[in-house]
Amino acid sequence: MSVTTTPFPVATEAAAPPSVQRVGVIGSGTMGAGISELCATRGLSVTLAVSRRPSLAAAPARIAAALDRRVQRGRLTATERRAALARIAVTDDLAALADRELIIEAAPEDRELKKALFSRLGQVTDDSTILASTTSAISITQLAAVTARPERVVGVHFFNPVVALPLVELVATLRTPPAVTARVAAFVTTGLGKQQIPVTDRSGFVVNALLVPYLLAAIRMVESGGGSAETVDRAMELGCAHPMGPLKLADLIGLDVVTAIAGALYEEFKQPLYAAPPTLLRMVESGLLGRKTGRGFYTY
Ligand SMILES: NC(=O)c1ccc[n+]([C@@H]2O[C@H](COP(=O)([O-])OP(=O)(O)OC[C@H]3O[C@@H](n4cnc5c(N)ncnc54)[C@H](O)[C@@H]3O)[C@@H](O)[C@H]2O)c1
Repeated sequence: MSVTTTPFPVATEAAAPPSVQRVGVIGSGTMGAGISELCATRGLSVTLAVSRRPSLAAAPARIAAALDRRVQRGRLTATERRAALARIAVTDDLAALADRELIIEAAPEDRELKKALFSRLGQVTDDSTILASTTSAISITQLAAVTARPERVVGVHFFNPVVALPLVELVATLRTPPAVTARVAAFVTTGLGKQQIPVTDRSGFVVNALLVPYLLAAIRMVESGGGSAETVDRAMELGCAHPMGPLKLADLIGLDVVTAIAGALYEEFKQPLYAAPPTLLRMVESGLLGRKTGRGFYTY
């Protein structure tokens, strides 16, 4: 009997995945504006889809103001600012995203809204487009399931502020082929200059599953008279060298976003540490959402 063996594995050069040049972004809030700005300053073409007519003018103005701040701080030249803005087109028609290689959904953290968007995206795009969500806690698998092409759907969980923070959690589902994940990983690293960490599709991924219970515990501490927001924040800033205390951070993230993530974590794991405390719920019901509305645990 003759046995043929391969003496050593032959190193084959894996072909680099094709780079992403045309990006679509949905939503021009905290994350969508930041992701659009980042992509445009990295030389990528961006089509930004908004849901309300006033945002057609407000979204580019918001991004222009963010770019202005970077020019003032000497981090960008006026020429780079102009070039970046020229790479962004704004639309209120999702069908205008049909030519995009990658679409990043950054609409509010509302499962039914996101499902409706992914269902529509599945209709207006074909196999050449990868669909991504920057959801913090909603199952990517559920979003993938409502499209006609679940194997083209991933999660790209950016952090706020998008331009400054280096991490993107990259979420593949059980149906995402390695080639799709590799292409998105290359977009994040080579295209955007960020670092990616592969994470499992479970609510909160890694960072929020650890961070949100901490924020909720800090809110419970304020609620139960354990200290004011300022005291709790100063304690964590000075005692643990955190750059920002938990109440300031919750205000920065958005109290509605924190509540939505807590709800999704609670739904998935059914553990009390994920339950939003009443103070947080009342603040959100009152429209006190943090920095974005001018008032949360602090006034801005
Ligand atoms: N804020 C954070 O720190 C943070 C960090 C990481 C991920 N996320 C996630 O990113 C997503 C967006 O969060 P955000 O903080 O930017 O929210 P946001 O409320 O600031 O922005 C959402 C934007 O989407 C728009 N919108 C609503 N419906 C739309 C539709 N059908 N089509 C297009 N736009 C629509 C809203 O008008 C708003 O401008 C959420 O899933 C959130 O969980 C947020």
